[in-house]
Amino acid sequence: MQPTILEKKQLLVVDDEANLRRVLAAVLERDGHEVHTAEHGEAALEFLREHHVDLVVTDLRMPGVDGMALFHQVSRSSPGLPVIILTAHGTVDGAVEALKAGAFDYLTKPFDQAEIRNVIRKALRARELDQADASFEGGRGGAGARFGIIGDAERIVAVYAILDRVADTPTTVLVTGESGTGKELVARALHENSSRRDKPFIKVNCAAIPKDLMESELFGYERGAFTGAVTSKPGRFELAAGGTLFLDEIGEIPVEMQVKLLRVLQEGEFERVGGIRTIKVDVRLVAATNRELRREIERGAFRDDLYSRLNVVPIALPALRERTRDIPTLVDAFLAKFNARLKKHVSSVDAEAMQRLVAYAWPGNIRELENVMERAVLFSDGARITERDLSPEVRGGASVRPAPPADLSSDGLKEQVKAATARLERQIIERALDQTGGNVTHAARLLKLSRKGLQLKMKELGLRETPGARPRDDEEDE
Ligand SMILES: Nc1ncnc2c1ncn2[C@@H]1O[C@H](COP(=O)(O)OP(=O)(O)OP(=O)(O)O)[C@@H](O)[C@H]1O
Ligand SMILES: [Mg+2]
Repeated sequence: MQPTILEKKQLLVVDDEANLRRVLAAVLERDGHEVHTAEHGEAALEFLREHHVDLVVTDLRMPGVDGMALFHQVSRSSPGLPVIILTAHGTVDGAVEALKAGAFDYLTKPFDQAEIRNVIRKALRARELDQADASFEGGRGGAGARFGIIGDAERIVAVYAILDRVADTPTTVLVTGESGTGKELVARALHENSSRRDKPFIKVNCAAIPKDLMESELFGYERGAFTGAVTSKPGRFELAAGGTLFLDEIGEIPVEMQVKLLRVLQEGEFERVGGIRTIKVDVRLVAATNRELRREIERGAFRDDLYSRLNVVPIALPALRERTRDIPTLVDAFLAKFNARLKKHVSSVDAEAMQRLVAYAWPGNIRELENVMERAVLFSDGARITERDLSPEVRGGASVRPAPPADLSSDGLKEQVKAATARLERQIIERALDQTGGNVTHAARLLKLSRKGLQLKMKELGLRETPGARPRDDEEDE
């Protein structure tokens, strides 16, 4: 699933070398982050005063406010904001000093892409865990804190017990659950709680890869294997060596590919497309699906033998409506998260609004709750969230509560969630545009998006820009 509108992490890259800024921005945007750049410390500080940022990457040596000074300022004004230092050979002392003072990590130039992406991933993850912990002060719902998972309903506590037992084993795990129940979260928790945590976690969304590219994506290809294969390329299995491979939406894998996957699972080896060399890799496999695989087997769309191989340890995640007692805890956690992210100070949810939140059926589960809370925090004018701040579906409450669709694992449900998300996003954007008199640049700022990002989203949602309110051309995110 695409990141929703406010889900992207906001990264600030500070370096006086334009080329490095460009390259880093390109690499990190490919990872789905929103990247802002500044050419010196002053510009960075100015940006930080007005924008929410999740992580800073800064060069150490710059004219004026250098990386060290920037780091000290940041740790005073935004404690906990991770800072990664870039340093040239010979100036490592400075970086080590920054590390001792609490910088997250440093990299020596030249570094490779994998290195920086890895460090950034870890820093963002650590930050998320910190924030989740912080929102649980007082000991509420801490049972899953070590996994970054919230909730202490019986059915989710049972999941923690399985995670404890299997995280640090090479066993294949099959995570099932409706859309938005936390399958990916569980897959990452397995990786982070294993001794593989310093090795790659590679995610493959099987639904997003065209059928005829699946084999080369998973297993790689040799030069000349097909038209266009001008170089050879490792596949995801090789990229995940030593780490974890997360096969998301495994139910979407074409039957021909299932045979090949089965062989890797059984024998631990494969060949690249067009290759003759047999490759062996040590990879821990986690698969997830929101489909009822048994039903897929019945209709011949999924192989029974592959299913048995994958289903060594099954983890079935409960739908949110089956664990309503966790809703208040989740609401509090999302409140804290979005207060921090949106720089708001909403302290609580009033009783009526909470009643609505608990009564609603949540077809999109925790992801939908997260989106609703994001919107509520964004639009709340006061210290408390009231019914008014909730989306119409949720406000409709028990009286018009839709009966859950008969087949909760169907594509139909996915479509419904997609439609609900789009509706929500459209409302958020329209409201932001209202507030800014149709000025896209200002609306983007309000939504903590780049102008380009907002424009793309508007196009996708079929929203048109008002001709009279065009943005200036000299904005920072161009
Ligand atoms: N127990 C939980 N505590 C806190 N956050 C959660 C929990 N479960 C899910 N989330 C959050 O809800 C969102 C959706 O979770 P995730 O992407 O893991 O779901 P999924 O089951 O993979 O969904 P899909 O089937 O749509 O891919 C994420 O932002 C995740 O961080
Ligand atoms: Mg998922």
